[in-house]
Amino acid sequence: MKFPRQGEKRCMECLLRRMTAGDIPAGARFAQIAAWNQTRSDWEMFLRASPEGCFVAEAEDEVVGTVATISYEGRFAWIGMVLVHPERRGKGIGRKLLKAAIDYLTDCRIPCIKLDATPQGKPLYAKLGFAGELEIERWELQRSPQSNPAASPGVVTEEALEQDHEVFGADRSSLLRAIANEHPGFVLKSLRQGKLAGYSFGRRGALADHLGPWVARDEFSARELLDKFLNRSGGARIFVDAPTSNPWAINLLRQHGFRFSRPLTRMYRGRNEFPGRTDLQCGVLGPEFG
Ligand SMILES: CC(C)(COP(=O)(O)OP(=O)(O)OC[C@H]1O[C@@H](n2cnc3c(N)ncnc32)[C@H](O)[C@@H]1OP(=O)(O)O)[C@@H](O)C(=O)NCCC(=O)NCCS
Repeated sequence: MKFPRQGEKRCMECLLRRMTAGDIPAGARFAQIAAWNQTRSDWEMFLRASPEGCFVAEAEDEVVGTVATISYEGRFAWIGMVLVHPERRGKGIGRKLLKAAIDYLTDCRIPCIKLDATPQGKPLYAKLGFAGELEIERWELQRSPQSNPAASPGVVTEEALEQDHEVFGADRSSLLRAIANEHPGFVLKSLRQGKLAGYSFGRRGALADHLGPWVARDEFSARELLDKFLNRSGGARIFVDAPTSNPWAINLLRQHGFRFSRPLTRMYRGRNEFPGRTDLQCGVLGPEFG
């Protein structure tokens, strides 16, 4: 009989244990089956940021499910990468993974846990006490690949990171710097009379280039950043996850030929004391990171 080692929790169907880098290929396979855009580097960012707070479920010595967490300044944490192998769904594995993540974050005294739920995940989260905060829509552009001009790498400025602190509700500068290091050509800013009026980052994903965070204080800056990103990317497929509360994003995306792809619901559990300025977010960083 196999007993759980330290840091493992035995459940009826599976064994829960901490995720390691060796589990990334299994996670990436589940993400591919679910047609998600995350890459190996997204899993690595979670493991670097939260080595103790990412878990897998194992059954018959195989990884059958994943969950990852990341904490922002102790103000709130995000849960992402909630994936169960299609053949193992409906057996309580997702619930057990979620509970492991919630228990871990509760032990860390994080007062608020947030996530961006797919329609498939939403009923599970609602049962575990998550409430809806706002609606987000994924919009997708399909176009013929463009030849993109060689772009000089953008610089992440302190001003942008300070604004992001207000807009996101907590410091996520190390995550943004890591993303900028990997995709420097997607680091963009928009200036009005020498002042920062908007900024954006982007990633090349498994399926599409993803614009986010895409933040602007006025419509002109929002448009300028979108135009620049589309020009820099050159990709045939682009994703943006736009909060429906933003006054400009969805109209701009429509005008640029994007089509609605799927809904997401931002949910929280606990005291949501740092919601940030979602009105200024034209596009979020991504459902996995917030
Ligand atoms: C969402 C997902 C992780 C759920 O995993 P799972 O192992 O099938 O979930 P569980 O069996 O633990 O179900 C947990 C609870 O949610 C309910 N539930 C799960 N999926 C549901 C659905 N599609 N509709 C209604 N209820 C659902 C179950 O009835 C169960 O409730 P109960 O414990 O009170 O009986 C899995 O479907 C998945 O990997 N989907 C694709 C990726 C995805 O969308 N992930 C969510 C990202 S936010």
